[in-house]
Amino acid sequence: MDDLMPWGRGTLVTRPGAGGGGDVPESGQPGHSTRNLPFYHAPVLLQEVLDLLQPAPGKLIFDGTLGGGGHSEALLQHGARVVAMDQDANALRHATDRLKPYAAQFCALRGNFRHFPQIVEETGVSGFDGMLVDIGVSSHQLDEAVRGFSFAKDAPLDMRMDTDAPRTAADIVNQEDEAELTRIFNEYGEEPNARRIARAIIKARASRRIESTLHLAEIVATASPKRSKRHPATLVFQALRIAVNDELAALRDFLAAAPRWLKPGGRLAVISFHSLEDRIVKQTLQHLSTPFLDRPEWPEPRKNPDCVLKLITRKPVEAGPHEIELNPRARSARLRVAERLSA
Ligand SMILES: C[S@@+](CC[C@H](N)C(=O)[O-])C[C@H]1O[C@@H](n2cnc3c(N)ncnc32)[C@H](O)[C@@H]1O
Repeated sequence: MDDLMPWGRGTLVTRPGAGGGGDVPESGQPGHSTRNLPFYHAPVLLQEVLDLLQPAPGKLIFDGTLGGGGHSEALLQHGARVVAMDQDANALRHATDRLKPYAAQFCALRGNFRHFPQIVEETGVSGFDGMLVDIGVSSHQLDEAVRGFSFAKDAPLDMRMDTDAPRTAADIVNQEDEAELTRIFNEYGEEPNARRIARAIIKARASRRIESTLHLAEIVATASPKRSKRHPATLVFQALRIAVNDELAALRDFLAAAPRWLKPGGRLAVISFHSLEDRIVKQTLQHLSTPFLDRPEWPEPRKNPDCVLKLITRKPVEAGPHEIELNPRARSARLRVAERLSA
């Protein structure tokens, strides 16, 4: 069933309408290409992922967030074949280049993992022994100033992981009304001063369109009481990134489809980085692994028709002090794993 897969044929597959994946200008701005920057991203919880997914020759594993290719590389080194995906053309290009030595076992597809069933189906693959998503942005995306993910440097207010996506963070900040901006900052950033910041943005943009990361960071800082050590724009930037990339809905869509793509005994591993994501992962895996449901109005518990998984990690797996010391980003990583039941 896997023989349509373009193993070893250059490995990078781009889809029509996916933006080409070739020479895509990462910033959408001439003169701002960063394709020659070294790609840096340390894979988090790597040993834990290997222990739980158990890659080996004969196994086929899906990596929905290829990024710098660190997790994929380790899976390949253990002899598994890997079908990988990323919506960021720049990440795909770098990782595909890095993983050239494994071309016979590796295939990279450009796209959003929320659409993986349609994208993977075209290749003839019908099931996986393991599936991994390590969500959020890579260190490289954060460091590439022109992508506009960070207020550490001045850059266009962009934040799209997929540079062909229609809406940038600047579009949201300059177009949405006070109620919608408040909702975004509340829901995706859990920002306590959401309404006050939304009002400050509306007032500021009346005199000048907000186009840059530093301009937005200044507006947010002015509107926020200075209480914590954290930069006052941290939660607003997180919220905008989630909104621009529709990250929570993408995660829900992926989790809804993934279990059906696992072979019996196959495992699903999800790494998340903040409580909004982890809550979705925890609740979804819990529901999909509960054999019986009970409600006060029912005379007795009923069989859960959605129960197709068994939880492997009752609590999220977290990084140890050594990994956190080497890679502070690992501090907030949470890994949850579930296994597909046989019948
Ligand atoms: C945290 S990094 C993954 C790092 C990777 N595991 C490694 O070892 O280098 C997340 C990557 O997933 C991609 N990504 C995030 N959400 C995505 C989605 N919904 N669909 C496809 N790619 C996504 C980002 O573009 C980024 O390259």
